[in-house]
Amino acid sequence: MRTSITRIREMKDKGEKIAMLTAYDYSTAKLIDKAGIPLILVGDSLGMVVLGYESTIPVTMDEMIHHTKAVVRGASQALVIGDMPFMTYQVSVEDALRNAARFIQEGGAQAVKLEGGEMMAETVKRLVACGIPVMGHIGLTPQSIHQFGGFKVMGKTPEAAIRLMNDAKALSDAGAFAIVLECVPEPLSKLITERIPVPTIGIGAGKFCDGQVQVINDLLGLYTDFVPKHAKQYARLFEVIGNALSEYLAEVKSGTFPTEKQSYAMDESVLAELAKKA
Ligand code: KIV
Repeated sequence: MRTSITRIREMKDKGEKIAMLTAYDYSTAKLIDKAGIPLILVGDSLGMVVLGYESTIPVTMDEMIHHTKAVVRGASQALVIGDMPFMTYQVSVEDALRNAARFIQEGGAQAVKLEGGEMMAETVKRLVACGIPVMGHIGLTPQSIHQFGGFKVMGKTPEAAIRLMNDAKALSDAGAFAIVLECVPEPLSKLITERIPVPTIGIGAGKFCDGQVQVINDLLGLYTDFVPKHAKQYARLFEVIGNALSEYLAEVKSGTFPTEKQSYAMDESVLAELAKKA
């Protein structure tokens, strides 16, 4: 049975840690699903790790829907969350509703994620009232990278810490089913996690969050343009794939690939007939 938002809330209540990963395609979603990871985020990190943009800002709704559909086809158990791209939910609540509905109706996702705290609370309330589960995202919100002036740890001053706590409470009160805390000092994310009833999912927010999320390309060592401090490489696929490609190139050049094993045979009589007639 597919993971529900009720189950995610129950995991917090029972003290069960929640794992979440990003995915952007069918095959990866299948692997994550098979591993039993309950939450898959089709992150707008798609823009950087799959599409090669410099930030998440250029990502469009059409790109997100295309990849969400692929992930949904691969995941039968995990709850799939579509990440709302830059300026698809900030201009008006109507915009947010229309675009969130696309993720659910066209993309087949079961929830959406959007960046921002108190300022987005009314929008979250409206989406939830319309039956769309929403995951919040506060701390370092990459769509505001130009405002922050780079990838930075957030909530380091008393004012900033209070703002983040208020953001978390506002999203929780508005009905968000979980909140991503990105690049938040561990003691602050611990306090937020203790003070709000909904699960916190950390990325660079320490071990006290209710769950953790990683970008799959970071976790597998596939994306090496920029490796954040909070990423842990559980594999080094960049090297594994590089070695496989070099081997393939060498075998094609030397004629050792393909062998009989990768080739299709033909009936001798057909060959003889061909020789006679052609
Ligand atoms: O887009 C993304 O991958 C994200 C995660 C880092 C939470 O927002």
